[in-house]
Amino acid sequence: MKTLIKGGRVLDPASKTDAVKDVLFEDGVILKVAENITDDAENVIDADGMFVMPGLIDLHVHFREPGFEHKETIRTGARAAARGGFTTVCAMPNTKPAIDSVEMVRYIIDKAKEVTDINVLPIAAITAGQDGEYITDFEKLKENGAVAVSEDGKSVMNARVARQAMRLAAEVDIPVFAHCEDKNLVARGVMNAGEKAKEMGFYGIMNAVEDVIVARDILLAKNTGARLHLCHCSTKDSVRMVELAKKEGLQVTAEVTPHHFTLTEDAITSDDANFKMNPPLRKQEDVDELKEGLSSGIMDCISTDHAPHHKTEKERSFVDAPFGITGLETSVALTITELVDKGVLTPLQMAERMSYTPAQIIKSDRGTLLEGRPADITIIDPADEYVIDSSMFASMGKNTPFNGKTVKGRVRYTIAGGKTVYSYRPGCECIVDKDVPKL
Ligand code: DOR
Ligand code: ZN
Ligand code: ZN
Repeated sequence: MKTLIKGGRVLDPASKTDAVKDVLFEDGVILKVAENITDDAENVIDADGMFVMPGLIDLHVHFREPGFEHKETIRTGARAAARGGFTTVCAMPNTKPAIDSVEMVRYIIDKAKEVTDINVLPIAAITAGQDGEYITDFEKLKENGAVAVSEDGKSVMNARVARQAMRLAAEVDIPVFAHCEDKNLVARGVMNAGEKAKEMGFYGIMNAVEDVIVARDILLAKNTGARLHLCHCSTKDSVRMVELAKKEGLQVTAEVTPHHFTLTEDAITSDDANFKMNPPLRKQEDVDELKEGLSSGIMDCISTDHAPHHKTEKERSFVDAPFGITGLETSVALTITELVDKGVLTPLQMAERMSYTPAQIIKSDRGTLLEGRPADITIIDPADEYVIDSSMFASMGKNTPFNGKTVKGRVRYTIAGGKTVYSYRPGCECIVDKDVPKL
């Protein structure tokens, strides 16, 4: 079946396209992008006033399967991704067991194929069981579909192991996704260190907790030639160090989450664990630098760090609750509200930070609307204003600090491999699950 998307604002960083055009696709492949395509396509989507972007790519999500299915499953996570406009997501390995073997990588790939039409790509652990000691077999993990290696949830604290991992990753040409947090320096901290933490009576997490590992890992990338991707950067000095690394020509990329560019520690006004995540919400000066970085391109992409937790876990006190918030279903709206509407990013740069560049980082041929590429397409109404309602989330995790926030920007269609996996019109919202094969 042919589908024609008519009259949308087509945003394709690969060809630097920002113009009103039509998009024609068939059998999961983009056939043509041009002005006023005349075709007798069976299916026509009116995209007047909408952004038409390459399907969004999130390099950093936690789908919790196997081991923590009470928080999220690959099926529910993929539904949340579809609802959020994402056609590709990279799943972190901090499951139980961790994704540290070929069997586990295959498990994620096979399970994802069974339950969803979006691309769920596994990230493998750097060390067995994410215990920080024995490095996994990067070559085999990559051969079997791992797109990156990461110890996310923590850092590889032993610098010798971290260096050895980067040396091996460089050899195999697999990127290292680094969660930067000095375990000894963080101690018992739960929110940003400073006056606000004192006022709330909580132990603090200094910027230096992140900064010292960002510095170490950039130096180790320089030492080994590894491709290093810095996860969820939250501090102003992280941005400065990434800038320096890029000036030196190192293969260092970095991501920023919507919560870190939207909120500061001042958003924490009560004992509400929906504001607890790692790294924590920082100060305005950090937020300003993160936005600057996203605008200039020093910071390469926006990732959500979608970290669903069960209601009962997040109902605990700020001190006892686990770190993390959901992000897949609020990312588009927060990016439009905080960055595009405020002139920090152009719509074309939004497509770059949320699709094109993430694709480059994992060397995927997606993230573009070029003819012949997979028909992964996200259609967004940038003018639709509404209130975020976490009870509507497809994710099992309702743990968001943004419930009740008025935002602008709504996903209207998510098309993965030519199939509409999500669509919205007023009064009618539809997530289309994978067809169950007939026996
Ligand atoms: O807030 C976070 N939650 N940060 C992490 O690094 C891990 C994540 C999780 O797995 O819940
Ligand atoms: Zn992390
Ligand atoms: Zn994470």
